[in-house]
Amino acid sequence: RASSSESRGALIVLEGLDRSGKTSQSSRLLSYLEGLGHSTELWRFPDRNTSVGQMISAYLSNKSHLDDRTIHLLFSANRWEKRSLMETQLKNGTTLIIDRYSYSGVAFSSAKGLDIEWCKAPEVGLLAPDIVLYLDIPPEKAAERGGYGGERYEQLEFQRKVAKCYQAQCDSSWKVIDACQPIEDIEKQLQDAVLDHVIACERGRPLSYLWP
Ligand code: TYD
Repeated sequence: RASSSESRGALIVLEGLDRSGKTSQSSRLLSYLEGLGHSTELWRFPDRNTSVGQMISAYLSNKSHLDDRTIHLLFSANRWEKRSLMETQLKNGTTLIIDRYSYSGVAFSSAKGLDIEWCKAPEVGLLAPDIVLYLDIPPEKAAERGGYGGERYEQLEFQRKVAKCYQAQCDSSWKVIDACQPIEDIEKQLQDAVLDHVIACERGRPLSYLWP
């Protein structure tokens, strides 16, 4: 079928607790894929550059206070406002590495006690990742790494709840990587995990949508 044979970039999502190492591993993965000659971009959510993103940023730094459902929907809106650009880039053949996505939205909001199905609903129809890479770290270990920047969610007790809410979403389609390993080992495992997906997308794997 013609529609399923169109070459595209892969949508690669990294998830994990705060201080799990997502951000540095995302840049390493970017260099790796670029080095192999794949057009690749690194994105992150929240995207604090948009006006919705600025509201999120003010909330995270405790400069504003919002109802739990309100901030949940803003995080979701922040993904929706990037959705068409995301699709354009993927169809242009650019692979996107995304530091946090809808799974963060669901994990952090359901950790506050919101119903998981309610949390998932506004994400329906966003592009589904080709692979979710979960950097698995015990909350205590992440807290020991220090550098919790003092933002709203960066507290051990809350991160413990978030870890449970990630576990509730984790299924066999996720690649779980032990984030306590040496940096280079993690880097290598991420490289091994993504390459097949990048190639499958180049060969025309169809796009899919949340929640698949
Ligand atoms: P992030 O910008 O990745 O953190 P940092 O500034 O430390 O790099 O994410 C900010 C926080 O927002 C993080 O604690 C996770 C949370 N979050 C949500 O609650 N919902 C969401 O949908 C997303 C993407 C992040």
